[in-house]
Amino acid sequence: MPSNFASSDAAQKLLDRASGLDVAGGNPRLKAIMRDLLQASAEIIVKHDVSESEFWQAAKFIADGAGEIGLIIPGIGLEHFLDLYMDAKDAEAGLAGGTPRTIEGPLYVAGAPLVDGTTEVDLTSDPDETDTLHMTGTITGPDGEPVRDAVLHVWHANSQGWYSHFDPTGEQTPFNNRRRIKLGADGRYAFRSKMPHGYSVPPGGATDVLMQALGRHGNRPAHVHFFVEAPGYRTLTTQINFGDDPFAADDFAFGTREGLLPVPSRQGDTAHIAFDFQIQRARSDEDQQFSHRSRAEG
Ligand SMILES: [Fe+2]
Repeated sequence: MPSNFASSDAAQKLLDRASGLDVAGGNPRLKAIMRDLLQASAEIIVKHDVSESEFWQAAKFIADGAGEIGLIIPGIGLEHFLDLYMDAKDAEAGLAGGTPRTIEGPLYVAGAPLVDGTTEVDLTSDPDETDTLHMTGTITGPDGEPVRDAVLHVWHANSQGWYSHFDPTGEQTPFNNRRRIKLGADGRYAFRSKMPHGYSVPPGGATDVLMQALGRHGNRPAHVHFFVEAPGYRTLTTQINFGDDPFAADDFAFGTREGLLPVPSRQGDTAHIAFDFQIQRARSDEDQQFSHRSRAEG
């Protein structure tokens, strides 16, 4: 079998027609992307001599794993790849600097309580027998100016590694460990909550099956997620991962980044993290928006 079989006349004709290139209607951008996607798929089938059975096994995996797509995508590195790509485009546009972006993950829930952040906010509504985390810092812009009227969205797991709204034990009330914190003119924030624990992908689920087949694990270090939004500034999606967690340097989702790995300072049953955010100015209205992604609603 010639290694360039995917480029044969018959294959090319098929892929052109399958992408709608020989008809007028449809979305031209989608047609172009579909054409390249089909070409790449055809080349992989030929390169690895994928059998009919292997192909349908892969199709079944995708169909069965659809519910875990939000974990599979970070697990195979594509969500981090998007960050690397956006970083590279920023650098090209002279927008380097500030707090690094990193993956959102699939567990944000819109509609968390909006609370006054001029005094320390408590994120935790439910009992949780673990240490208390205090986190403090400032949000500044590119010139070090305090960012006015920011909203800091915070969400994290409980001490068992479960997120409210996604907790199979059913033990958490809605929006436990989730708040939107409204900050003042000085850009300062302070919150306390119960120490989150790292977590693994659901045992036996599609992500777990894939990770095992790749000889990998599905663990994340303990971490806290953030969106930072403020009028006139670009919305930042980021998270801090605990620098002293056993998986700090081996996050299955590739969410850990240099500059986002503070080590909590622990004393007795409390821990403190000081972390300042620096965000970019918005160049357009779109910069101030969240990415268009399907998110859970509370
Ligand atoms: Fe997370």
